[in-house]
Amino acid sequence: MYEVKFVNLVEPVIQAPEAESDPVICACMGVKASTIKMAMEVGNASTLDEVNELTQAGTACRACSCRIERVLAGFPAQCGPCSLCPACGVISKLCQCA
Ligand code: FES
Repeated sequence: MYEVKFVNLVEPVIQAPEAESDPVICACMGVKASTIKMAMEVGNASTLDEVNELTQAGTACRACSCRIERVLAGFPAQCGPCSLCPACGVISKLCQCA
């Protein structure tokens, strides 16, 4: 009798670290960027409040609000300035005032 062995040829040998492809945006609530993007695509979330409501991201310490705003604006969450514009209070990277 023959013995049949199955080999998984689909699973990649090398994978990018999870943190690089889908970073955690909100550490308090454990929400990843993919969840926020899903809230945008499926739930039509377009504001921080809507993301807060749909995902619970940003509903505890709120330290991640900047990263959520960056994801909403289509920027990478983990890079770029996240300070607030002293004139308008909007995140500097997203600020439209001069
Ligand atoms: S890190 Fe998102 S609410 Fe604290």
